[in-house]
Amino acid sequence: MKREGFLEPLATAHHDALMVCRLIQQEAEKIQDNVEGNIQDQFSVKIANYLQSGLEPHLQAEEKLLERLAPHCGDKDADIRRMRSDHRRLRNLAREGSLEALVRLSQELHDHIHFEKTRLFPRLKKTLTPAEKRGVVTESVQTLFPSFPRGRE
Ligand SMILES: [Fe+2]
Ligand SMILES: [Fe+2]
Repeated sequence: MKREGFLEPLATAHHDALMVCRLIQQEAEKIQDNVEGNIQDQFSVKIANYLQSGLEPHLQAEEKLLERLAPHCGDKDADIRRMRSDHRRLRNLAREGSLEALVRLSQELHDHIHFEKTRLFPRLKKTLTPAEKRGVVTESVQTLFPSFPRGRE
């Protein structure tokens, strides 16, 4: 599939998210091997930062994508419904925050990103109009990087 720039901000964030998924797995293994350890102390800053400020804007930016896709295929579309229910579960697991929930989150987030890369993003590339794709770039950047300079408007 031809590489198109309009999903780049979200695709770049997926690299970070997958790294966090790996870190959670590694930290969980370390914690299991060291029963004396304190879970909070052992979780890396990177994981905490991602859960606090990386995940939610990413989910919101993608939900704006779904609003762009829905007029083309209806809100009952199976992929849109899967996206919304995956996001709901990911938010709940992040909020729960226990080790077990975070390990589950890392597995679900990994599968979810795979679904977006192989199914949702190719659909968006095929379906959205050029004007809608330009709108996606603006919305994604504003949602992911709220303090980014807006330029002349
Ligand atoms: Fe997502
Ligand atoms: Fe995503």
